[in-house]
Amino acid sequence: MDQGPLEDVLAAAAALARGELVGLPTETVYGLGADATHAEAVAKIFASKGRPHFNPLISHIASLEAAEALGVFSPLAQKLAEAFWPGPLSLVVPRQPDCAVCDLACAGLDTIALRVPSHPLMQKVLRAFGKPIAAPSANVSGRPSPTTAGHVLEEFGDRIALVLDGGPSVVGLESAVVAVTGDQATLLRLGGLSRTELEAVAGPLLAPDASAKAAPASPGMVLRHYAPRAPLRLHGATAEAGEVMIGFGPGFDGADFNLSSSGDLVEAAANLFAMLRAADAMTPSAIVIAPIPETGLGEAIADRLARAAEP
Ligand code: TXA
Ligand code: MG
Repeated sequence: MDQGPLEDVLAAAAALARGELVGLPTETVYGLGADATHAEAVAKIFASKGRPHFNPLISHIASLEAAEALGVFSPLAQKLAEAFWPGPLSLVVPRQPDCAVCDLACAGLDTIALRVPSHPLMQKVLRAFGKPIAAPSANVSGRPSPTTAGHVLEEFGDRIALVLDGGPSVVGLESAVVAVTGDQATLLRLGGLSRTELEAVAGPLLAPDASAKAAPASPGMVLRHYAPRAPLRLHGATAEAGEVMIGFGPGFDGADFNLSSSGDLVEAAANLFAMLRAADAMTPSAIVIAPIPETGLGEAIADRLARAAEP
């Protein structure tokens, strides 16, 4: 396998540090990578994928030690990590309270998906960059996952700083995704590891809905998005007494928060989850959200807000 020269690795790490997108080889499929701690860089991932939706992304790190700084590993999660990392397994675990990965990469969830990939070139980038890299598969929504650098260039050539060519992905299937809370493991996505291989280490894996029944104390552990306690009022112009206003665009300079005073949807996406949390922390009678155009990332923002507004 082509290990790639050191300059390419350093160029990728430098582009990530500038908040740009980079095509990265992993043993499963190629990823569309960004600095996972940099919300605007992560927003560019969603903007580039087409039909944007704030699905939570996998954060890639170089080692279990680096993963433990971001997520809480129960003994079972540790056992799975030790058995399969580096490799095609993503573990969804509770976020550490001081988790450096931005809210947008986790789509506002209190859990985080973590993976230590084995591809030698990706390992070098992770070590050179020194921070977690958020990366979904580098395909436009609805298209097959990319397993060569050429595939990535075809789809994202004009949106990425560069793609590192690490040869064809040897697994060719996305990672298996397993959520672990305490001593319960739930298989969320089959992938580069079989159920048999996983169960040999973890014991029987729950199906996503079975786990909700088996553990009513942690309902919807699988994909429970952050929902503010305060009711949301969408398409509002001003806040009444006791309400908090989240504006959008230059007309909202006096608002408590502004998703983007210049009206930039990428910046708005980057700020969305953190501002919802901050507004909610003020314990208002309602959170009023200004109208946001439903073009580009505005569609994903509208979708997320509509779901957060449901009682
Ligand atoms: O092999 C792979 O996993 C590739 C390479 C690039 O690492 N990445 C990948 O990412 O397939 P993506 O974004 O296409 O798929 C991530 C999956 C999605 O099914 C997502 O819903 C799930 O992981 N996921 C991420 N965070 C989650 C969370 N906190 N809770 C539940 N599911 C999560
Ligand atoms: Mg994908």
